[in-house]
Amino acid sequence: MSGFDAIPLEFFQDYPEPGVKFIDVGCVFDNPVHWQLAIDTLYERTAHLHFDFILAMDARGFMLAGALAYKRAIGFAMARKPGKLPGEAISIDYQREYGSATIEIQPARIKGEHVLIVDDVLATGGTIEAAASLLRQVGKEVVGATALFDIAFFEGKRTLTMPMITLRKV
Ligand code: PRP
Ligand code: MG
Repeated sequence: MSGFDAIPLEFFQDYPEPGVKFIDVGCVFDNPVHWQLAIDTLYERTAHLHFDFILAMDARGFMLAGALAYKRAIGFAMARKPGKLPGEAISIDYQREYGSATIEIQPARIKGEHVLIVDDVLATGGTIEAAASLLRQVGKEVVGATALFDIAFFEGKRTLTMPMITLRKV
C-alpha cells in the first residue's frame, strides 16, 4: 500500500445510528500531508475527464470540490440541503443510506456544460445519482463523479449512470 491507500483512517462504530460504521473524513482533512495527497490524487485520477465545471455536494464534498476546482482553474457550485439557496432552485428527493433526503441546486450557478460531481463518500450512490438527475434536468452533461471513499458493502457503483472514480474502498 502506498499513497492515499496508506493513510490511516478513523471509523466510528454505531454512528450516527446502531449498526453503522462511520468513516470520519475529518481524519484526511486534519493532516496537511494527507490532505494534499487526497487532493493531488483526486486531481490525477480525474485528469483524463473533460469537465469544465464542478458540482460540490453538501457538506463534506465542498472542501474537496473547492480544492479540485482551484487546481483545474474552473468554477464550482454547491448542491445544498433544502432551504439554503436563494433565488430559483430546483430540488429532488431521493433514498440514501439512512432514509430519505433532499438536495437542491441553483440552475443559474452551473456555469459550465460538462460537469463533474464531487463528494467525500460513495455509499448507496443515491446522493450522486440525485445530483446527476438535477444537472441533466437543466441540460448539463454529467461527465463523471468522484469521491474519496467507496463503502464496498453498498456496491454503489453498480447502479450509477456515470463514470465514478473513487480513491479507496473501505
Ligand atoms: C454522506 C456522504 C455522502 C452520502 C453518501 O453525506 O457525505 O454525501 O452520505 O451516501 P449515498 O451514496 O448513500 O447517497 P450525508 O448526507 O451524511 O451528509 P454530510 O455530507 O452533509 O455530512
Ligand atoms: Mg455528504
